[in-house]
Amino acid sequence: MKNPKIKQKNQTLYSIKRIGIIGGGQLAKMSILAAKNMGFFVTVLDSTPECPAAQIADQQIIGSLYDPEKIRALAKVSDVLTYDIEHIDTQTLNSLHDDGCTIYPQPAVLEIIQDKFKQKQRLADKGIPVPHFEAVEKPASLALMGFPIVQKARHGGYDGKGVMVLKNQADLAFALKTPSMIEELIDFTKELAIIIARKQDGEIACYPVVEMVFDDQTNICDIVAAPAQIDKATAEQARQVAIDAVEALGGVGIFGVEMFLTRTGEILVNEIAPRPHNSGHYTIEACMTSQYEQLIRIISGLPLGDTQLLKPAVMLNLLGEAGYTGEPVIEGLAEALSIPGLSFHFYDKAITKPARKMGHITILDNHLDKAMAKLQKVKTILKIKGKEKI
Ligand SMILES: Nc1ncnc2c1ncn2[C@@H]1O[C@H](COP(=O)(O)OP(=O)(O)OP(=O)(O)O)[C@@H](O)[C@H]1O
Ligand SMILES: [Mg+2]
Repeated sequence: MKNPKIKQKNQTLYSIKRIGIIGGGQLAKMSILAAKNMGFFVTVLDSTPECPAAQIADQQIIGSLYDPEKIRALAKVSDVLTYDIEHIDTQTLNSLHDDGCTIYPQPAVLEIIQDKFKQKQRLADKGIPVPHFEAVEKPASLALMGFPIVQKARHGGYDGKGVMVLKNQADLAFALKTPSMIEELIDFTKELAIIIARKQDGEIACYPVVEMVFDDQTNICDIVAAPAQIDKATAEQARQVAIDAVEALGGVGIFGVEMFLTRTGEILVNEIAPRPHNSGHYTIEACMTSQYEQLIRIISGLPLGDTQLLKPAVMLNLLGEAGYTGEPVIEGLAEALSIPGLSFHFYDKAITKPARKMGHITILDNHLDKAMAKLQKVKTILKIKGKEKI
């Protein structure tokens, strides 16, 4: 354990003072920045000593996110636990919860979300519109819905890994071998997302509906535009569906709700993340309260912050350039930073890899189309390369 001295904070200020975060990636890092601004003491659990969050956390417990002993050690030095990734040991979290440990979002909610099939089933049971789906009980079930279909690993997927489009019978040769589910392939016009903040007493705050644009090659969300360019009625519909979805789970915390807008104007929920979400990075600069500060407020029992959008914004994920690995080398930063309204975030990962999320930029402008034009320019000048060619 690094820096094991625990400072005592003024107890009259907050009902809790020590936050424990399971997972030390960029989402934890940005949450900790918000927590440190507000005077909390933060411990992070991650197996990598130089993970993004380790650099700003008060202390780190080095260990696996599935190690019951390390999770218990984190709980011992924290008044509340949260996490920045859904692939963690819920069994230990459940038993800690039963012993009176405060954990948000609740382990029971995480358990449902962790399994994409259980998640869809809960949403469907509660009347939330979702794509038609089926569990894959045996290989023959893959052909249940005809083609084309989308096959998804029930557990462990992220950034499009664990998602396979099967266009015809012949594609079955490429089917995932892990426990999975299938869905109809949705012919969407846009992928939308919304960050929903929900408190212990059920009070909700919603961020604006945003549009996520995916990179064709990496299948990773490339650009987020806030607000989404959709009519008011559609935005209201998306907002309501997202609220209903979080309420269907009874979740407390920050939730990123991913949705499809279909050609016929329907809103369907794709999936829910029980944590700050990539589509909400823009809230740091563009909203009155960021999704990260909002998380800290919720888990510590403080009032919800204002979610108002201050200016239109676009966010670009900075992915590790193809063909490079090793220590990251940032190219074109000075030129990018000379663009008005641009903020640069670097996660300080020790090693870059092709398509690894290394940082992001957010551009604010009075006009969304101007912000987008600036972003397209940045795409050509700002690159994250590595010291080694591959
Ligand atoms: N039923 C579907 N119809 C059409 N496209 C889909 C469908 N399901 C998923 N996709 C596409 O695949 C992408 C990744 O799917 P999904 O969000 O389920 O996986 P993920 O690995 O958890 O993704 P991420 O971590 O990027 O959120 C979606 O954003 C969408 O572009
Ligand atoms: Mg997704």
